[in-house]
Amino acid sequence: MNSFIIETERLLLRPLETEDAEAVFQWVGDERVSRYMVYNTYTEIGQVRKWLASLREPHDNYNFGFVRKEDGLLIGSGDIGPSGFCEGYWAFGYNFRHDCWGKGYATEATKAMMRFAAEKFGITRFCSSHVAPNTASGHVMEKCGLTYVRDGHFTKLDGSCPMVSKEYEGTVDATKFPMPVWKITPYPTR
Ligand SMILES: CC(C)(COP(=O)(O)OP(=O)(O)OC[C@H]1O[C@@H](n2cnc3c(N)ncnc32)[C@H](O)[C@@H]1OP(=O)(O)O)[C@@H](O)C(=O)NCCC(=O)NCCS
Repeated sequence: MNSFIIETERLLLRPLETEDAEAVFQWVGDERVSRYMVYNTYTEIGQVRKWLASLREPHDNYNFGFVRKEDGLLIGSGDIGPSGFCEGYWAFGYNFRHDCWGKGYATEATKAMMRFAAEKFGITRFCSSHVAPNTASGHVMEKCGLTYVRDGHFTKLDGSCPMVSKEYEGTVDATKFPMPVWKITPYPTR
């Protein structure tokens, strides 16, 4: 289970809790957000609570909620950890509530997760992928130092919605990302 809080200029990255269900439902229940994600749009808050509870099980990856410092709103979530597809790489992903797109939050959060992986675990090789039409996500990956390497295949977790994906990789020294505010502290166990 993730046990760190990361502070950046505008965000706090912290573990998601079951109490976050209402806030998380704002984006996982929004088809505009879920369209290019592996999960199907959540239709009931109980499904969100179940997913959040599952994050308490042992995981290889670090799952973070992204809290906007300015108003304390949980605006998105993401994760980073050893890739199941690219040997020796750490993979990351993210999603944000729709009214928070286009403000650089995904880039800020992803750079923070990469720098966390670099500082805590010495990770330098990163990968990610997006469904072909989701070019904004590819742009985030490029801004984080990754480059397109090949096409792949995407389906949702239930095997539906087959689409072409764009796969990205990069060797990045994320400890060098300029971060005006940068702090990693332990998350209190509850
Ligand atoms: C993809 C997503 C995470 C991007 O979040 P964001 O906070 O808006 O991203 P950022 O603002 O950090 O960066 C987006 C960049 O893409 C650019 N962009 C936006 N729409 C674009 C488009 N249609 N094509 C190309 N670039 C685009 C933005 O201009 C910005 O680049 P810039 O900083 O050079 O101007 C967000 O749209 C989202 O949550 N989408 C739904 C879930 C999802 O698709 N997750 C990713 C799955 S791979």
